[in-house]
Amino acid sequence: MSETPRKRKTIPELQAMKARGEKIAVLTAYDFPFARIMDQAGIDIVLVGDSAGVVVAGYETTLPVTMEEMLYHTRAVVRGVRQALVVADMPFLSYQVDLSEARRNAGLLIKEGGAQAVKLEGGVHIAETIRAIVAMDVPVVGHIGLTPQSIHRMGGYRVQGREEAQAAQLHEDARAVVEAGACAVVLEGIPAALAHEITKEIPIPTIGIGAGVGCDGQVLVIHDILGLCEKYSPKFVKRYADISGIIRTGIDDYIREVKAGDFPGPEHSF
Ligand code: KIV
Repeated sequence: MSETPRKRKTIPELQAMKARGEKIAVLTAYDFPFARIMDQAGIDIVLVGDSAGVVVAGYETTLPVTMEEMLYHTRAVVRGVRQALVVADMPFLSYQVDLSEARRNAGLLIKEGGAQAVKLEGGVHIAETIRAIVAMDVPVVGHIGLTPQSIHRMGGYRVQGREEAQAAQLHEDARAVVEAGACAVVLEGIPAALAHEITKEIPIPTIGIGAGVGCDGQVLVIHDILGLCEKYSPKFVKRYADISGIIRTGIDDYIREVKAGDFPGPEHSF
């Protein structure tokens, strides 16, 4: 069977979706098979999140994730995608130290990874970096609110923007990200009413995670929605399947058959 030619969604198409009021569906992926399945299902954006560090590599936080790891995951995902837009996360320490390092690392995720855009965390304080990356024609997705790379400053994964001053700061962060040239922004872990206000206020698409239904789109971690990550389950996650149980049954059956000498049978032997 011949494969459909690649025609990946573009940044201007995302903008048009916001204008039409069409919701944007986003999921994370870290490897070829998951990326291919969600791409075939019609997902709009595949995000190669640095959450890979937690759900794939088993780290406690996203902080240890390296550029090499992000490039590896991004290449694998891009090979599985034909119609979705692919965005790759910039890992901690790949963009915070200086602008030239940030530009080089963003460029590598496009050039060697094959992503169409990069995502980085932060608002006002990271606007200059966003501007520098956008200036070399690399589209940037912002990420404000609960930013997991700031876990030590936040003191845990806590909802941001509940107090007035914090909410005002988030409005400023959103404006700064827009003015710096970002093409979309992730709003994570903020009250639904605040996310809705920001969505109405700014011209670029907002993608919510734990930010209510008033955003232009939604993103979740694939391992969370499929019940593959049993470590923790935040309130904003909806579990659409429980495949840990299915995997466990398959592995239990395999072990039992090997131990009993029932596998391989004649049909699996030469
Ligand atoms: O790393 C990630 O998966 C993310 C999303 C959950 C927004 O940044």
